[in-house]
Amino acid sequence: MYSIILAGGSGSRLWPLSRRKFPKQFLKLTDDETLLQKTVKRNLFFSEKEDIVIVTNQDHSFFVKSQVQTKLGEKVNVLDEPVGKNTAPAIALGIKYIQEKLHGKLNDPVFISPSDHIISPASEFADYVKTAEKFAKNGYIVTFGVVPTKPETGYGYINKGEKIDENCYKVKQFVEKPDLETAKKYLESGNYLWNSGMFMFSIETFIEEIEKYEPKIYDIFTSSFEDMIENFHKMPEISIDYAIMEKSNKVVVIPINITWSDIGSWDSVYEVMPKDENKNVIQGNVVSKNSKNSLIIGSKRLLCTVGVEDLIIADTDDAILIAKKGYSQQVKDIVELLRKEE
Ligand code: GDD
Ligand code: MG
Repeated sequence: MYSIILAGGSGSRLWPLSRRKFPKQFLKLTDDETLLQKTVKRNLFFSEKEDIVIVTNQDHSFFVKSQVQTKLGEKVNVLDEPVGKNTAPAIALGIKYIQEKLHGKLNDPVFISPSDHIISPASEFADYVKTAEKFAKNGYIVTFGVVPTKPETGYGYINKGEKIDENCYKVKQFVEKPDLETAKKYLESGNYLWNSGMFMFSIETFIEEIEKYEPKIYDIFTSSFEDMIENFHKMPEISIDYAIMEKSNKVVVIPINITWSDIGSWDSVYEVMPKDENKNVIQGNVVSKNSKNSLIIGSKRLLCTVGVEDLIIADTDDAILIAKKGYSQQVKDIVELLRKEE
């Protein structure tokens, strides 16, 4: 199966480890592999190396190539967008490459995923992806939904409708990033799932829907791969969620029951990581005594904590973050402030 991995976003929520020029897909959070490397390895359960296409931008291309092509194999395809235009144009470029250079056929399903999520176990995840294949071949856009645990406004919500097959449902409504009031209602209703940001469709379905809903992307898509690169700057800047998911009536959802996190904040990193007997997550050059419920990430210099509780500490060469647990969403405000001062 073909797969497209999106690796062009610029993260700031895991500052100071992630930076505009070094977003979270390039970080090693859980072990020795970066989130991008883990994504590629997960996709190897259902895609051959030569059928994987990573779409990134020129700023990040070097990291992608050194983390993937050098370490996991040269056969993995890496495409550089001339300029970041969000996910719909990035996907269009990946699909064109698959059609033109990898000889993908119209009915071939393509699995699309971000590069910066924590997902486990990989083998169970692969089973869900494999069950999606037949629906994608039948003209559906298959999304993967996660049972929500809080009124998160950073995710898209999927209103689950009538069952069309074993563990596959029609989507009544797809709502990208609702406001807090709406997210609260969705959580209470129990009929909504989080959009995990991964989906699958056939090349043909993608072309039909992009023609219908984003004709400007479609116009550029109908040229050759090289011409698409040339005219990429003319693409409208829009995510696939707003471009297609919210509008299409071909969307179905497969609920997934595995560990999934977009790890959009240091608090969510703490939540998904294994903890020691004092409920700490400690990494790197750290000595800690009587500290509890904390996430402590050391860097080159020695980092020591005594008697601290409920803290997030992340050290790097040039900046250190100290935050109270529960407040890490506000890290992006700090980053905003620093950017203004630049
Ligand atoms: N190549 C490329 N170019 N990749 C991009 C670009 C771009 O211009 N913009 C974003 N990406 C990549 C990011 O690196 C990430 O891997 C993926 O596309 C999704 O982009 P995000 O910016 O992380 O989206 P989001 O998290 O705000 O929202 C999406 O994911 C949520 C789940 O994590 C939506 O699909 C939501 O509906 C969903 O709930
Ligand atoms: Mg994301």
